[in-house]
Amino acid sequence: MQGRSVWGSKVGFLLAAVGSAVGLGNVWRFSYVSYQNGGGAFLVPYLVAMLTAGIPLMILEYGLGHREKASPPLAFARVHHLWEPFGWWMPIVAFFGINLFYAVVIGWCFNYFLLALNLGWGAETGVFFEEHFLQVSSGPFEFVGIRWPIFAGALLTWVLCWLICFKEIRHGIEKASLLFMPVLLVMTIILVAWSLQLEGATDAVWNHYLRFEWSKISLLTAEGRSVWIAAYGQIFFTLSLGFGIMITYASYLPKKSDITSNAIITCLIDCSYSIFAGLAVFGTIGYMAQTKGVAFEEAITAGPGLAFVVYPEAINQLPAGNRLFGALFFLVLIIAGISSAISLTEAFTCSVCDKFKFERKKTVSVLCVLGMAGSIIFTTHAGLYILDIVDHFVNAYALILGGILECILVGWLMKAPKMRKHIFAVSGRKVWPLWDIAICFITPVMLMLILLGALYREFGEAYGGYPVGALLLFGGGTLVLSRFGAFILSHVPWPYQKRTHAHTPEEETLLT
Ligand code: PHE
Repeated sequence: MQGRSVWGSKVGFLLAAVGSAVGLGNVWRFSYVSYQNGGGAFLVPYLVAMLTAGIPLMILEYGLGHREKASPPLAFARVHHLWEPFGWWMPIVAFFGINLFYAVVIGWCFNYFLLALNLGWGAETGVFFEEHFLQVSSGPFEFVGIRWPIFAGALLTWVLCWLICFKEIRHGIEKASLLFMPVLLVMTIILVAWSLQLEGATDAVWNHYLRFEWSKISLLTAEGRSVWIAAYGQIFFTLSLGFGIMITYASYLPKKSDITSNAIITCLIDCSYSIFAGLAVFGTIGYMAQTKGVAFEEAITAGPGLAFVVYPEAINQLPAGNRLFGALFFLVLIIAGISSAISLTEAFTCSVCDKFKFERKKTVSVLCVLGMAGSIIFTTHAGLYILDIVDHFVNAYALILGGILECILVGWLMKAPKMRKHIFAVSGRKVWPLWDIAICFITPVMLMLILLGALYREFGEAYGGYPVGALLLFGGGTLVLSRFGAFILSHVPWPYQKRTHAHTPEEETLLT
């Protein structure tokens, strides 16, 4: 396709991809997931998941985006004309399923950044978070009204997203990533170093974070198997796979690109960042547990509570520099979050522009306004409940299903060796035939097991104890509506000949 934007540099692309992958999930989700699942021993299934699913799928997404030079709907449609709806589903879920609440959580971080400057959350951080900050209502249908500070934070996030995505890829997302990622790294290093020198920190790291409980990862027990499933789920989420984001980013790569190395480097940086940032989380909580004289297990909680309740409490206890430390921590979350939010916005924008040939600036502007309007529901007093439900359903089903569909599309319909040949042709680097096995069998089977496990649990008990009506409306509704949206969009006729292949005839002969 002519006139498609191209990344200005290899590093620019890599940092943008890393920016999407490194997000709120790396800082708090990884830490508590690994803690709940065997501590240090969790690293084994985690790394196996990275090797057998993370890297193969990353190569797949980069390869598909690069080969077709297209966002997911167009790329999918080119591989098989009946698959366009699935191609739409991924960016729609990314935008309406995740971006809407992701922007609100970044909005919380903006508020907490300001609160950190005068430790405005007080001594009772749990009470403050729920009763004063979120002012949580009594149930998911009790909206009550908008929490204006949260609204303002979400608005700021959307404005930043708009400002960055408005410009062409190399002047917007690339420039932002070139700035954000080094800053993020430096700030994280400071945070980790600061945390580790606190009293009780190294003890918590060795005895809780990195404690090896081999029995917990045994495949012979049901508990052990659920740890493996958690590891695959975490890898998927943390690498932003299954949303078509990496397909979109790779579609802006120049013709000669080293897809394999880029994919491996993205995965390695993201996973190492998680493990590294976990040191700061555990170190700080370890310090707090020691000062309060409570057991580590009592001090730590999972989920949103970790970043917005436990962490502020730990910050309160620091011997010096509390405000700076707090501001630094929430700034890390903001930067990591924004660089992921822009990738979610980009995937949908690019899909719309690819199909309808709309102008980028207008499309981004309209989508950001729509996005902010959609975020409002998460800024109400019932926002936390709805966020929790939507997050659960999107992560447990849409993401995993997206991965399975990609494996079928490339592994079986296009045929994995064809993609391998393409990657070799453009990078001069061979992909092991083992990749075919990962894409055709290992990854889809693992993902299917995760999906079945999630479904089994879903029918066993209502998630989070919420009323079934709320689960169906917000969780099921997001999945069904996004599927419906995908159906509609894929039935609008293409205004141009979409089957014209992105690559030149010479390149095609090279590929087959
Ligand atoms: N990878 C991001 C994180 O770890 C989350 C994310 C998922 C972002 C999917 C974009 C798309 O937080």
